[in-house]
Amino acid sequence: MPENDKQSLSMVTCTAPVNIAVIKYWGKRDEDLILPINSSLSVTLHQDQLKTTTTVACSRNFQQDRIWLNGKEEDISNPRLQSCLQEIRRFSRKRRNTGDSTSDVSGVSHKVHICSVNNFPTAAGLASSASGYACLVYTLSQLFGVESEQLSAVARQGSGSACRSLYGGFVQWKLGEQLDGKDSLAEQVESESYWPELRVLTLVVSAEQKSVGSTSGMHASVETSQLLKYRADVVVPSRMEEMIRVIRERDFPAFGELTMKDSNQFHAICLDTYPPIFYLNNTSHRIISLVHRYNQYYGETRVAYTFDAGPNAVIYTLQDHLSEFVQVVRHFFPPEVSGEEFVKGLPVCSADLSEELKRDINMEPTPKGIRYIISTKAGPGPCVVKDPNHHLLGADGLPKKTV
Ligand code: DP6
Repeated sequence: MPENDKQSLSMVTCTAPVNIAVIKYWGKRDEDLILPINSSLSVTLHQDQLKTTTTVACSRNFQQDRIWLNGKEEDISNPRLQSCLQEIRRFSRKRRNTGDSTSDVSGVSHKVHICSVNNFPTAAGLASSASGYACLVYTLSQLFGVESEQLSAVARQGSGSACRSLYGGFVQWKLGEQLDGKDSLAEQVESESYWPELRVLTLVVSAEQKSVGSTSGMHASVETSQLLKYRADVVVPSRMEEMIRVIRERDFPAFGELTMKDSNQFHAICLDTYPPIFYLNNTSHRIISLVHRYNQYYGETRVAYTFDAGPNAVIYTLQDHLSEFVQVVRHFFPPEVSGEEFVKGLPVCSADLSEELKRDINMEPTPKGIRYIISTKAGPGPCVVKDPNHHLLGADGLPKKTV
């Protein structure tokens, strides 16, 4: 544990990624332990574009556990936060009791100060709970010297999808069988370098209203949707196997088709929920049409969409088709802002569109339907930030003024 003697303050800073599921998690069999009713699989996005950074400090001088999220102090008594803190402290004590003298775990009885920020706006509508809880759990584990294959089970108790953000590349969350959830863990399928041509675009849609949160949405689906039971029992087990196979074969058309079908089934379950839940808006529906018309023009699946609990589209494609597809989006969703402001993140070359392609797609443009695009790719799991200048907490254990 890195100790600053003068202040008796120990501090660690880490970063963690966002992940986007291609086989969706939707529904819990145990709401306290956050155990899912089906396995799921996601791609971890690169942290150069999307990440959470968290600093955790512990000191014998701290009076209570405290947390600041994106510059604002939040209530530490949140039960999911408490589960993660308790679990990590339990692991750390267990390690001490088993007599591992190499780890200095004295800090485990001290209170912690946690400060966390995202490098993407909350308005981007990307689930920040996955990167947020993964980062919290990973940073706590580094501070308290906890090394465990069970770390994803701790992050899972913060937010289900967070367990998948503990690994880079392609990650599956196996639903597990045990009642205590010890085997409901995330596992890397392939690393981030396995499929280097794969690209990811987040199309941030102009949303009018706030959608139903995933926690309450999936609760309602479990209570009322019969389709959800069929999905969990019959559809997902075979889709998981197929998805792993097509990723290993780097078979984009099969990967894309399965990704779109799974997103559509998740939204079908939302409609099958009573009362129904609508996450997609008109722009989302137009993006779906655009992708299918584009693929139809070429007679193969070159681009795939997936949508989570909101109207933003995440697009998977290959490097070769990226610039043309972005130009297609720009043409059919003329932006309010200029070039660079519209496409953020990894650079995208400009491309010319043939008149034939535009004519065949045959859609009315929707001006300003998409606010901006974040261009990224698959990336690594959580990292420790070595440079102490990047700590979000100062030597007094409080957020630095710049946070
Ligand atoms: C649609 O992980 O946010 O993004 O476990 O209640 O915190 P809780 O839910 P959360 O649900 C994510 C749902 C999803 C699909 C997915 O990421 O697999």
